[in-house]
Amino acid sequence: MSLFEDIVKKLDLKKFDSVIAVGGGSVIDVAKGLAVIAKCGGSIRDYAGFDKVPDYPDWKSIMIPTTAGTGSEISEGVVLIDEFIQSKILVLSLKICPTIALTDPEMTISMPPNITVNCGIDALVHAIESYTSIDANALTEPISLRAIELISQGLKPAYEHGDDLDAREAMQIGSTMAMVAGMNAHMGLCHSLAMPLCAIYHMPHGQACGMALAPVLEFNSVVVKEKVMNIFEVMGFMDKDAGDDTLTSDCYEKIESFLKEIQISARLSDFGFKDEHMETIVKETMKAVQRQFNPRKPTEKDIAGIVKRMI
Ligand SMILES: [Fe+2]
Repeated sequence: MSLFEDIVKKLDLKKFDSVIAVGGGSVIDVAKGLAVIAKCGGSIRDYAGFDKVPDYPDWKSIMIPTTAGTGSEISEGVVLIDEFIQSKILVLSLKICPTIALTDPEMTISMPPNITVNCGIDALVHAIESYTSIDANALTEPISLRAIELISQGLKPAYEHGDDLDAREAMQIGSTMAMVAGMNAHMGLCHSLAMPLCAIYHMPHGQACGMALAPVLEFNSVVVKEKVMNIFEVMGFMDKDAGDDTLTSDCYEKIESFLKEIQISARLSDFGFKDEHMETIVKETMKAVQRQFNPRKPTEKDIAGIVKRMI
């Protein structure tokens, strides 16, 4: 956030008419944020929340992602860490969608394994949360499910063999598809929890979303049981054709094993969790804009219960 404000101070934004971003989600988000400030002025904090950007930016924006995961190259979101409130601010508005996205899996070949998995898990959670969202519909659901399948197949080989172009392509297409569904159906409780977790523990966004995935799916399964089973099936954790149609703790454990194989921790204790953090995590999760799209409305007590499962 302070870095973003430094850039705004140092550049005379009125002198520019376009922006080209080559990089990961943060680079692309900064470019999108600059386009907003160039048009609307003020501080990016003024536009935090849902649909608060008053005008379409004048700038043309061309986004070339070098990671596969955030979906920022096509999305309506800008995410920045706000050091003052120990959380992230999220600007969500269709007005800030980039003009052009150039996605090429070869641009992701040199991405290091740890970034590959953190971005890839983010994309997986975009696909899953868009599928279970209250705004999911007949158009978005097949896109979400296919994205879950592609990412589940491509993530481990892309992590283990970065030059596996087939795996990189599955990740790149899966990630963009996940955000196509996500822009229309939105996210949920994993993304809500990720806001304070990233700010408090300085963990990557994908790590935060990934560690929340199993407990949030278990929490949501009370209201979207069939969808949770479909997710497990396309991830290869269940086989309904073989009569496997019961949600057991085994399925959630398979998610945690999958995370472990790609070095994503499922435990907050690995990041220095202390009991006094609980209040901030619960409070900031309740405030997160994505929470409203989660299929099951969590109370503060529910969120504390989910966090306890992550310790
Ligand atoms: Fe995300």
